[in-house]
Amino acid sequence: MPRQLFVTTALPYANGHFHIGHIMEYIQADIWVRFQRMQGHQVHFVGADDAHGAPIMIAAEKVGKTPQQFVADIAAGRKPYLDGFHISFDHWSSTDSPENHELAQSIYLALKAQGLIDVRPIEQFFDPDKGMFLADRFIKGECPKCGAKDQYGDSCEVCGAVYAPTELKHPYSALSGATPVLKTSDHHFFKLSDPRCFEFLQQWTQDGKLQPAVSKKIKEWFTKDENGEGGLGDWDISRDAPYFGIEIPDAPGKYFYVWLDAPIGYLASLKGYFAAGGPKARHGEARSFDEFMADPAVEQVHFIGKDITYFHTLFWPAMLKFSGRKLPNQVNVHGFMTVNNGEKMSKSRGTGLDPLKYLSIGMNPEWLRYYIAAKLNANVEDIDFNKDDFTARVNSDLVGKFVNIASRAAGFIAKRFAGQLTAAVGEEGRALLATLQAGRQGISALYEARELGKVLREIMLLADRVNEYVDANKPWELAKLEGQDARLQEVCTVCIEAFRLLSIYLKPVLPSVVAQVEAFLKVAPMSFADADRLLGAHTIGVYQHLMQRVDPKMLDALFEPPAPPAAEAPKAGGEKAAAPVPAEGDACGSGLPGGEAVAPTIAIDDFVKVDLRIARIVNAEHVEGSTKLLRLTLDVGEGCDPQGRPKTRNVFSGIKEAYQPEQLIGKLTVLVANLAPRKMKFGVSEGMVLAASHADEKANPGVYVLEPFPGAEPGMRIR
Ligand code: 2FM
Ligand code: ZN
Repeated sequence: MPRQLFVTTALPYANGHFHIGHIMEYIQADIWVRFQRMQGHQVHFVGADDAHGAPIMIAAEKVGKTPQQFVADIAAGRKPYLDGFHISFDHWSSTDSPENHELAQSIYLALKAQGLIDVRPIEQFFDPDKGMFLADRFIKGECPKCGAKDQYGDSCEVCGAVYAPTELKHPYSALSGATPVLKTSDHHFFKLSDPRCFEFLQQWTQDGKLQPAVSKKIKEWFTKDENGEGGLGDWDISRDAPYFGIEIPDAPGKYFYVWLDAPIGYLASLKGYFAAGGPKARHGEARSFDEFMADPAVEQVHFIGKDITYFHTLFWPAMLKFSGRKLPNQVNVHGFMTVNNGEKMSKSRGTGLDPLKYLSIGMNPEWLRYYIAAKLNANVEDIDFNKDDFTARVNSDLVGKFVNIASRAAGFIAKRFAGQLTAAVGEEGRALLATLQAGRQGISALYEARELGKVLREIMLLADRVNEYVDANKPWELAKLEGQDARLQEVCTVCIEAFRLLSIYLKPVLPSVVAQVEAFLKVAPMSFADADRLLGAHTIGVYQHLMQRVDPKMLDALFEPPAPPAAEAPKAGGEKAAAPVPAEGDACGSGLPGGEAVAPTIAIDDFVKVDLRIARIVNAEHVEGSTKLLRLTLDVGEGCDPQGRPKTRNVFSGIKEAYQPEQLIGKLTVLVANLAPRKMKFGVSEGMVLAASHADEKANPGVYVLEPFPGAEPGMRIR
């Protein structure tokens, strides 16, 4: 009986384009899905955009769009990535779909009927200007431990302290700048601490279905520490309006927290696929979505990254269990992808791998599929993209060992035998082909277990055997000898038969290349069962080259940092810094320049309130006790003091990481001259120097002080 598989990948937030981490996960899942389809199983492979939550609501507001329009625009950019890397989703939806609204509400009501929902008051920071409660990431202030300014509400980036937002000194809203006030509101909780949940999850997570490392990690999450902290606490699943999400039934102004409805989006996308008639058209599926999901034979399989294990192995199965639904059969957790020996992925240093750039410079998507497969196993391990390793694996293994087999034999079959293979294969050839056929079971088992690196190693060992056969039988020499035609046809036939078997085994990884192979061999789309027979006296078509080798120049282009700006800013230590580049996959513009949406439109009257002046940096020095600040002494053309000394201003600027003081002295820059003086720990700052940086400074480090064209003079106004 064919298996019935419902397969998903994690739903990406709809506030940015795909990055290489998404593509890696989709390739891993897609290979597994294609393998299952080739085994004759019925697969429904679905994805969706994770549309809800405060960050998306705020990002949409910043660009003057409704959240719905904002996520629709992001969704419209998905296709080039998915098609480009040959990812074969059956259906793509959004967690804002009607199906998800309906399913999330019904799952919630089922949990409530089980007595697993609790409502209790929570005190939280509230932004009085925006009229909304603030998540930790939208509250900033001074670190309660080290006093560093502008730290987020949960932890300090300077000293590493972790704290509650209410502990911040001088907290302010990152949205409006207003001072937040503490306010109480009722929140809804999913009672994970209920003994029924605890017992169920202890059993479900430790019964051997999860990867060993995952089960082990979960055990830690169950355990309370010596202070009685940790363990399974109740889960806060509600957020107050305004919130872009799904309304909680019978609770006006309350919405489900995004992580409540996100995984339900898996079911909703499948439901949408059924509603669109996909399963019927593709598999003749006569049942409804509900009937399908009620079938215990249907297997539910999730592929996710290690960072979201908690949600998928605790919250999600508990939600499903206690709302009376099918439980996941597999939650396959993978590690992260690093680039070039684990360097942190930073596009400003040119180390990121932009999937659209990869495609746009003409790199073959199946090189990347092959390479990622070669690195993956069934464990939760990070994998590294390494330029040299990539080139070697593609050029030596994929092209050198696999593609070359066809190119060494096909020409003789076409020219000398009008494309005709022979059924008369001798013992040596038959033994070789039998060895290849015998590889099917082992390779299938490795695919099933997601041991993709081992799959490719097995296939390449078989390819080695075939190349040894070619080298031993030398068809190019047979071709020159009188009376050796039958032998030449036999040897070349064995090569083509072997190439076909290898192509079957590689097809989940290289769907497009193998589609070309099928056309060249003049055979119908191949499944794994086709490895049990041979072509025999079959006529094949004309071979066309299947795949180029990687040109190392392509990799140089892929990782080349974007062109530096005209006036390149020096970095600390004299090293030249490259400019940050747009967000991942941003070649055509994500609408998020520098990682953030353009602020709402202002009138010219608003602009002229800000008095920007050219300033000369007459001195710059380190500030004792500060890891971030430099003290700048600025001449803004403000004349002399009563003692006849040129007036200067004292300004503290958080650019210590980017510049040595001596690099700045004598330079012109831009100062906000009418900013209210600010008393800081180290003295009063009389204005602010302008500098550019990416919104996500962690991923795109670099701060660039502005410098005017030559000719500007201290005191000149910028208008
Ligand atoms: O971490 C993330 O990117 C989430 N958007 C993943 C959600 S997976 C599922 F639960 F929807
Ligand atoms: Zn601190």
